[in-house]
Formats: sequence, structure tokens, C-alpha cells
Amino acid sequence: MSLRLCSPAKVNLFLKVMGKRTDGYHQLATLCQAVGLCDWIEIKYAEKDSFSCDRKEVPTDQSNLILQAVDLFRRKVGVNQPVDIRLEKKIPLQAGLGGGSSNAATALWGLNRLFGFPVETESLKRWSQELGSDVPFFFSEGTAYCTGRGGQVISCPPLFNGTLSLYKPSLGLSTPKVYRALRLSQVSHKDPEKTLRGWLEGTPDYYNDLEPSAFSLLPSLARIKEELQAKMGSPVLMSGSGTTFFCSGDHVASPYFLGVVKGCRREVDGWYEQKEERSDEDLY
Ligand code: C5P
Repeated sequence: MSLRLCSPAKVNLFLKVMGKRTDGYHQLATLCQAVGLCDWIEIKYAEKDSFSCDRKEVPTDQSNLILQAVDLFRRKVGVNQPVDIRLEKKIPLQAGLGGGSSNAATALWGLNRLFGFPVETESLKRWSQELGSDVPFFFSEGTAYCTGRGGQVISCPPLFNGTLSLYKPSLGLSTPKVYRALRLSQVSHKDPEKTLRGWLEGTPDYYNDLEPSAFSLLPSLARIKEELQAKMGSPVLMSGSGTTFFCSGDHVASPYFLGVVKGCRREVDGWYEQKEERSDEDLY
């Protein structure tokens, strides 16, 4: 049996940093949305383990979260048959789009599917925080309010019916670097629960407390945001720790334009579904 699964990107519709935790991580409150810009992961039985990726810049050693997900699955579930995994990478790296985290969640779900669902998806979600703070989100239904390190996930109804245009400057940012540069004195004074209520009631508010630290590391990002905002005439926000920007609605001409995406949902008993063909309506 062979599986071909879509591994979607996410954007943070708002991201509030609440403070620093005793474990060195930051306490967050963020509304995440899976979007139809996807990597593709093929998983099948094999004689011996192998893992490959179509893009040379993606590491295929143990630093790749897919291989860490395989190890976690084997350790927790005790199923050790060899597998062949291929990754087709479309989500840019160091982009704040959660590509690596999504790959890890997709690999966990795919292994569980391949071996006949030996464990509940809820267990995969719980274990997945060991792989990274953003990984449990991908076990939601595609829209979720995430707190704690990011792994306390509360699914929300679909909040986003329109399209988002994505812009990715060529420079990337490493997540730990952005968190290290964060000054807690620069974070917003927003109340995230109030923001969430606003989103649920149809009055969205976009903000990201990681923007000031990302902009201090790469000052050109502030200029790019301003330029995009002037062209779009509506709020433009950096996703996660950057460097991708997004804006609701149709796109404008920009050297950084990446694509137009819609929100993407996961069925309770399935994984994310996405068309592979491009069309004018939905580029990914
Ligand atoms: O959990 P993950 O490995 O994805 O986090 C990468 C880095 O981002 C951490 O090492 C930490 O520096 C930072 N981080 C944080 N607080 C969070 C999530 C991530 O400080 N809630």
C-alpha cells in the first residue's frame, strides 16, 4: 500500500506572546489557519527504510522532523516495519508557514494510517508536541486557537472563507533567533481571548508580536510590509516568526508574491485534502 498525503502550510491570523516560561519557551496565544499551499508526502512499505526529498536544500538526515516523527511513532507504538518516504517540498523554508511541523504531523498520521490505525489520532496529537510547538495544531480541523507553547489546541469553526495572498521575501529567519531577539517590552497589550471572540463574531483583528523582533533582525522586512500594505490597502501581517507576509483578498504585483490560497480543512477521520492541479482560482 502507498499513501500520498497533502501536508499544508499554516498562517497565524494573530499571535500574542504572553511572556517567558520557566522552560525557556514563550507562552503564546495564537489563532492558526491551515492553508492550501502544500507539500506532498508519499509513504509506502519497503524492504529497508529510506527518505528522500526533491529539494537539495532540505536536510534528509535526522534533523528532518519527518525522520524524528518516524522514530517517535516507532517508540510509542512499537511498529517497526521499514518504510520508504518521499517528500515533495513546495512550502518555503524559514517562512513562518509551519512546513516542517506540518510534515511531522502528516508523517505521524500517515504511518498510523499505513499500519491500520493502531492508535487514536488524539494520541498522535499529544505525542507530537515533543517534535515541535506547532506540530499538534495540524491535528485540529484546520482552524484552531493554540496556547501554552503552542500545543494546547482548541479547534474553531471555519473562520476564513475568502482567499489570502502570500508574499515571501527571499531572506528567511530562524525561529529560535526571532524568539531570542524578542523584547517583552515590545509586545502588544491585546487581550487574545477578546481578539478570538472578535474573530468568532466576524470582526477580525490581525497582529503578530513577533514582527518587531523579526524586523530588528531584518530591517528590510518593515519596508516590505509597508510597501505591501500601501498597495493592498488592507492589513498585511507576517506569519509566525517570518518571513512570509499574508493579506486577505486578491494579490498585488510584487517580486515577493508566492501564491493565493484558501483555508484548508481536515475531516475528523481523514487528513487534509487538496487538489494538485493549479487553476486561476486557487494556485495551490
Ligand atoms: O518548539 P520548536 O522546536 O518548534 O521551537 C523552536 C524554537 O522557538 C525554540 O527552541 C524556542 O527558541 C522558540 N519558541 C519559543 N516559544 C514557543 C515556541 C518556540 O520560545 N512557544
